[in-house]
Amino acid sequence: MEVLIYPTYEQMSVAAAAEMAAIVRAKPDAVLGLATGSTPLGLYTELIRLHKEGGLSFSKVTTFNLDEYVGLEGNHEQSYRRFMNDSLFSQIDVPPGNTHVPDGLAKDIPAHCREYEQQIVDAGGIDVQILGIGGDGHIAFNEPSSSLASRTRLKTLARQTIEDNARFFDRLEDVPVYAITMGVGTILEARKLILLANKKSKAAAVAAAIEGPVTSMVTASALQLHPHGTAFLDDEAAGDLKMREYYDWIQARKPDAPKSS
Ligand code: PGA
Repeated sequence: MEVLIYPTYEQMSVAAAAEMAAIVRAKPDAVLGLATGSTPLGLYTELIRLHKEGGLSFSKVTTFNLDEYVGLEGNHEQSYRRFMNDSLFSQIDVPPGNTHVPDGLAKDIPAHCREYEQQIVDAGGIDVQILGIGGDGHIAFNEPSSSLASRTRLKTLARQTIEDNARFFDRLEDVPVYAITMGVGTILEARKLILLANKKSKAAAVAAAIEGPVTSMVTASALQLHPHGTAFLDDEAAGDLKMREYYDWIQARKPDAPKSS
């Protein structure tokens, strides 16, 4: 896994956005895997800026989000569909019909999950998947003990995740307990993975994911199995990494590294 560490959240976000933008410029009909949460907001802000000021077009792009709360309709303030519409989709030129978020109100959840997987396949697979990381090391809503071969399915959220996300709801009891989430196996099929993490509160999970063993107890550790995984970190999230000096050495030499033609 490539580990890139930036002094600030803003620099981390701009660097990750530059990587996404390069993918979209090279392949205007790229399939983007997107994530919700506080972490990718800086990345989305920069993509919006590149769209408005740099002519970056998303008009042919297709998107798939990682997850959605069960029981929240798409225009609920805290639904992930609403989050994506407000934070990104409404501010770029992606056709709304090209954007996919699991349906939190699906009547037959297993059938909906199978259909979501099929839609990803039909779109040609995900070119680049953005990932945040939970305090318990989860990616999407793949909580500890989620199979590393898991597919899109219903998951019960861990108590810690519910508490972490309670800040967005009026009351703890209002946080949904269930979600539909892409599986770790689904995520690993994306051609490129970008893990984003900032803040001290993520440092332990980040260290476990990057330097710990591959384990379903920390589903972000599955990135170690992917040939094209990059972690974009801010200085605080990198705080528990034992091999920090090594990552800095490699990162400092990245611009001069021989390029493939
Ligand atoms: P956050 O959530 O970006 O709001 O910290 C990340 C996650 O739980 O995956």
